[in-house]
Amino acid sequence: MKNNSTSLSGLPSSTRIGVIGGGIMGNGIAAVALRAGHPVSLHDSRTEALDKAAEAIENIVARWVKRGDLQPADHAEYRARLNLVPTLEGLNDCGLVIEAIIEDLKIKQTVFSALEQVVSREAILASNTSSISITAIGAGMQHPERLVGMHFFNPATVLPLVEIVSGEATDPQIAELIANTAAAWGKSPVHCRSTPGFIVNRVARPFYGEAMLALQERACSKGTLDAALRDAGGFRMGPLELMDLIGHDTNFAVTRTVYNSFFQDPRYKPSLLQQALVDANWLGRKSGRGFHSYADGAPAPTVELAATTDAPQQAVFMGKFAGIEELIALANEHDLSVEHLAGQGVIVLGDVQLLPSNGLTATRIAAESATPNVVLFDASIDYRKATLIVLAKADQCSDQALNKAVGFFQKLGKNVTIIDDIPGLLVLRTLCMLANEAAEAVCHGIASAADVDTAMIKGVNYPMGPLAWADQFGSQNVVSVLDHLAEAYPDGRYRSSALLRRKALTDSRWINSSQLAEEQQ
Ligand code: NAI
Repeated sequence: MKNNSTSLSGLPSSTRIGVIGGGIMGNGIAAVALRAGHPVSLHDSRTEALDKAAEAIENIVARWVKRGDLQPADHAEYRARLNLVPTLEGLNDCGLVIEAIIEDLKIKQTVFSALEQVVSREAILASNTSSISITAIGAGMQHPERLVGMHFFNPATVLPLVEIVSGEATDPQIAELIANTAAAWGKSPVHCRSTPGFIVNRVARPFYGEAMLALQERACSKGTLDAALRDAGGFRMGPLELMDLIGHDTNFAVTRTVYNSFFQDPRYKPSLLQQALVDANWLGRKSGRGFHSYADGAPAPTVELAATTDAPQQAVFMGKFAGIEELIALANEHDLSVEHLAGQGVIVLGDVQLLPSNGLTATRIAAESATPNVVLFDASIDYRKATLIVLAKADQCSDQALNKAVGFFQKLGKNVTIIDDIPGLLVLRTLCMLANEAAEAVCHGIASAADVDTAMIKGVNYPMGPLAWADQFGSQNVVSVLDHLAEAYPDGRYRSSALLRRKALTDSRWINSSQLAEEQQ
């Protein structure tokens, strides 16, 4: 697989682009192609949909003019390049036709078979399907080698990611040409093979699944859970508020499709909590209620913060763990007396062992080390940027001991929240499972490591690629956390990818430094 650093030799802008389906995606895609200078023909089987599409595209172009991205004179020129065609035959002069109709295999197969009778032998055909196999759509075609997935994200005019999906029969040169075309349109294309969920909808599953499992185990309140992933983890939105935004009907349907397509692999198991929301028609923002309430005047979700408490006199950092340098620097900046000694990765606060979570519960660590006062702190992509730290204490730990850990992080300028002592806490289990899913996709040749990371950053706004994070945290540490989680939940959900285990043995990187620099731009 090639990564997304394509040359820009895509289709020339004189190539007429056909779009089938004048819905939300088709309109956005048509606008993107118009903006790249192509003549565009848009077809919908419903005349009223064509009229609405014309209006929607007008509005998109008007917004670009209002924002100053285009000159007012461009508006009429754009209109002149857009051709609305009421029949499929009207697409006969297109060099690339992108289908964005209803998500139904049989209907898509019928449309592509009919399309092949209309367009030239050289025309390339693409589907914007978000979940249907490109291999299956191509099965009914005379020339399936010219069919490729071109999966834009909603809104297509804004989100940069385009997954270029190859079915079994897709000609690699066609996939490359379409990736170059998407790049020339200002998009960030990534290549992937046609497997359930492609890249984003598959690799993102644990972001939702781990949150719902933690909620089911009553680790903390809903507001605290979102805050943990957002303010401690560094994600733009918490998983519950994000599912509320996406809509639980949509999110649940995608999870079920991925779960069933992978023959009920426990990694993707849907949640009863989400099933209940769908059953109740609490679909999220669009219905006024999901995990959170969106009624007028509804209070913001509560985040339980620990009360302010005194900082300990001294912190002794021992050994090494991910983020230790940042924490030592923060302690120094906040005038806390710090020592750094050799030993196992731990922060010693008098009689308290403050440890980074490793997938074991604090209670188990306390029991096995015969040290009652064990407190765990959750992972963060960047402890300096984090405004919140998540803690959990062992059942054996005293409240005074917990307060020392709370005071330590408060002294570093952080808010602190205390959750129940679940394995892997909230951020760590999510990051490890995202990295594992990304590793498995690479292991199975679905996409390159660089393309998986790019997809997650450009498609769903992750603060860092899951594999770049695995490099930062150490693949051997990810494996160790997953092994601990697999011990706690022995149903196969947390089994680690064979390639992740192999990388862990030699501690080799997924993403090299020049790719990382590109990721961070
Ligand atoms: P939509 O329901 O807004 O629009 C679909 C349009 O296709 C309608 O105007 C309908 O009249 C037309 N249509 C249906 N059957 C047709 C046929 N046989 N011939 C011609 N036109 C036909 O749907 P939306 O949301 O734009 O989705 C379209 C495709 O894009 C689906 O495959 C969907 O999975 C995919 N997609 C959707 C995303 C989203 O967030 N809505 C994101 C990425 C992909």
